[in-house]
Amino acid sequence: MPDKPAHQECINVDCRATFDLGQSLVACPKCGCLLDVIYDWDKVPLPKKLSDFSKRWATRNNRLDFSGVWRFRELLDFCDDSFKVSQGEGQTLLQCCDGVAGYVGVDAGNLFLQYEGLNPSGSFKDNGMTAAFSHAAMVGATRVCCASTGNTSASLARYASAAGMEAIVFVGSGRIAFGKLAQALDYGARTFQIDGDFDDCMARVKEATEALNLYLVNSVNPFRLEGQKTIMLRVLEGLNWDVPDWVICPGGNLGNSSAFGKMWGELKDLGLIDRVPRLAVINSAGAPTLDRLVNSPETLLRYKGGHFDRDVIAKDYQWQDETNTKPHTIASAIEISKPVNMDKCLRALEICDGVVRAIPDGEIMNAKAQVGMHGLGCEPASAASVAGARLLAEEGLISKDERVVCILTGHALKDPNATVGYHTGNYDADHRVEGERRFANMPTPVDNDLDEIIKAIETT
Ligand code: F0G
Repeated sequence: MPDKPAHQECINVDCRATFDLGQSLVACPKCGCLLDVIYDWDKVPLPKKLSDFSKRWATRNNRLDFSGVWRFRELLDFCDDSFKVSQGEGQTLLQCCDGVAGYVGVDAGNLFLQYEGLNPSGSFKDNGMTAAFSHAAMVGATRVCCASTGNTSASLARYASAAGMEAIVFVGSGRIAFGKLAQALDYGARTFQIDGDFDDCMARVKEATEALNLYLVNSVNPFRLEGQKTIMLRVLEGLNWDVPDWVICPGGNLGNSSAFGKMWGELKDLGLIDRVPRLAVINSAGAPTLDRLVNSPETLLRYKGGHFDRDVIAKDYQWQDETNTKPHTIASAIEISKPVNMDKCLRALEICDGVVRAIPDGEIMNAKAQVGMHGLGCEPASAASVAGARLLAEEGLISKDERVVCILTGHALKDPNATVGYHTGNYDADHRVEGERRFANMPTPVDNDLDEIIKAIETT
């Protein structure tokens, strides 16, 4: 095993058991809580300032300097370079978008979209997958698996084929957007459609992992989240190393928000930034577990330095089972009601003075149309971040002069059915969305005749 200045550690403050990097674990064997990758920073050759990383733009013929994850490798130093599996991930864009700023209600120049749809498999997952597969290669894994609402499986399938590993994915039957299913099949993953939803798939894949000694790359894998930390570094880079006021992301299994919180906490502790942004995690109102636990007066769940009551979460999940409460949202990527990273997300909310909101599908789709109309496009779940920003601005929590970064997690082409459904009003039965389609762009039928076409162009 490489001699790296890092180890795995249970996040439970009453446990804190430690494990070496060579173990492939997705929960603490002692208490069952999540694990972190912790670094002995004194032994890591860190840059003096973050802008020093920019030098690597000049050496992009080195595959690790080309990667938008590994060019920050000192901040995730758990693995020798020889094991690193990279697909050129992280060539993504922080786009200042005044059109969307107007929609959200902040000043021109203050709204930024971090477009993670530009990743090799079209979603932010590749940031995490490159890190998880590098660890998988380091521990000699051969069979890699996940449960997924679609993007994780697409990303896993792509990295597995690059790494020469066998890909096994569990998806909820009929719960996955076609663009994503198409990718998993095309990249050759063995795809199992489970008769259930994502939460069922997640429970089963954990059992299968144990039973068959598979390597699990869901976001319970602590190495995956190390890769996703770098999204925040690219946000900083896009802002010339200035810290934004807000980072807003959709919340599903809560891996991204957890990774972001960890990154901001580490950068602050290392003195590489002088303040952290506020974090907003946005659920769909059709899958609002985090919003319910954090915001409802009965629970008001907070991290409290790790001294929170885990039973509150267990009781909520049990209540869901007893009442047969199931998530349902057009933002299928975040149709998750038992998020596995709840503890880490609560920690991230504490580090970043965070807030949580839930947005109805109709508003998610209107926000998505705005993102499309202003030139980037995204899948429904991603637009929850923009709809969330708008709500927080309306509430007065975000002020007009604050700099806001919304994370666009997935590419517009992932879920064409949702997009065409919105614009035509012709949603398929499973994905009917209530509410006014304020920016619907209906196609115009016209006869196959030039005069009629000219008339249509001039009059519609
Ligand atoms: N946005 C997109 C496009 C996603 O695919 C996901 C999660 C999220 C947001 C939520 O991120 O889980 O880190 O809170 N998709 C997972 C999957 C669950 O299986 O592809 P999170």
